[in-house]
Amino acid sequence: MTILVPNYILTPDILLKDKAVAFEKTIQGIGSLEELKQKFPEADVIQLQKNSLLMPGLINAHVHVEFSANKNQLSYGDFLNWLYSVIENREDLIAGCDLTCMSKAIDTMLESGITTFGAISSHAMDLEACVNAKQNVVFFNELIGSQAGMADALFNDFLARLDASKAVTREGFYPAVAIHSPYSVHPVLVKKALDVAKNEKLKLTAHFMESEAERNWLDSSSGDFQKFFKTLLKQEKSVSDADEFLSYFDGYETLFTHAVKTNDKELDHIAQQKHTIIHCPISNRLLGNPTLDIKKLREKNIRWIVATDGLSSNYKLDLFEEMKISLFMHSNEPLLDLATELIKATTINAAQALGINTGEIKEGKNADMLVLDLDGEPNKELAIHLILHRYNISKVFINGKLEKGNK
Ligand code: BEZ
Ligand code: FE2
Repeated sequence: MTILVPNYILTPDILLKDKAVAFEKTIQGIGSLEELKQKFPEADVIQLQKNSLLMPGLINAHVHVEFSANKNQLSYGDFLNWLYSVIENREDLIAGCDLTCMSKAIDTMLESGITTFGAISSHAMDLEACVNAKQNVVFFNELIGSQAGMADALFNDFLARLDASKAVTREGFYPAVAIHSPYSVHPVLVKKALDVAKNEKLKLTAHFMESEAERNWLDSSSGDFQKFFKTLLKQEKSVSDADEFLSYFDGYETLFTHAVKTNDKELDHIAQQKHTIIHCPISNRLLGNPTLDIKKLREKNIRWIVATDGLSSNYKLDLFEEMKISLFMHSNEPLLDLATELIKATTINAAQALGINTGEIKEGKNADMLVLDLDGEPNKELAIHLILHRYNISKVFINGKLEKGNK
């Protein structure tokens, strides 16, 4: 048992002063140091420095670790041009990121306070790096392929990757399923993969309504995707429309990434089914896609969380940076309210969406916690300052283990 004594604790709903936290793998108690010492007389006590703040570890629910080699190879500014550049550079990027490269990307997430991440794995090249990671990992085996003729081979490959991830026994590693998108996965495959996810109660995610091109292709088999599908895949028509695609997920809470071109009907459907939307503001900006309408999500009571996407559409894997960009992008939003929502979107709300017992400093929750060195006493605007200032993260605990910093 360890008792940690910070000056402040952000739970993240409330700010506590002069309280301590007792924990092993999970948080065992929150109270005054005297109370906790009496309850746990054998515990090691760690007194933290002045202006220290304990907060939940951050949760990055959507990252493509396999694409971590990208620096300037991919074209930014327009979604289809980016997609063509991905296809052209795919082999080089995948081959260019070995275990060391992927582990480095994962370690930078730890350095910036990410204690749980959701890895969207296209080829299982990242399995070893994710198994070795210090963080909790939801390992989303991704299924892609719009051509019916390829369905069996693609599904068998997906099942083999899923099985390999299910064989992992380490604590904090969760095998899961990703459907690439409505335009890129044949309905036959979507249904088969969803049967597996539902039967085995695996977490489920999909990209959804990321671009104007996707909207036009799903609505009327027109727009920028028309040439793409005709030339690369010999397809004249979309394999699915958005309503049909969404309906496959009914009754099973799913995390939909982007959703920046989603219409009211689809949002009502998402709300009714209690799905979550993953907001990746930097990726959306770099690929020339619209900004997520978070005001509408709030009105419709849809849970939204924040993630980085991969280094294929970002320059760092840092949720503090992501929150900052979001804060500035949504410039009509009330500043403090949005900052407060963003902190929850990377902690408690992300944990709930992923179904993991973390994201809060609360008795019974996994001890995934950060110690930040503030530069003074926090005030009512703490959420804004957490996002604006790059406060030093002096310690990171994951499942009660110190994974960054000194004792
Ligand atoms: C496909 O495999 O069918 C596909 C992949 C990427 C984009 C669109 C379609
Ligand atoms: Fe993505």
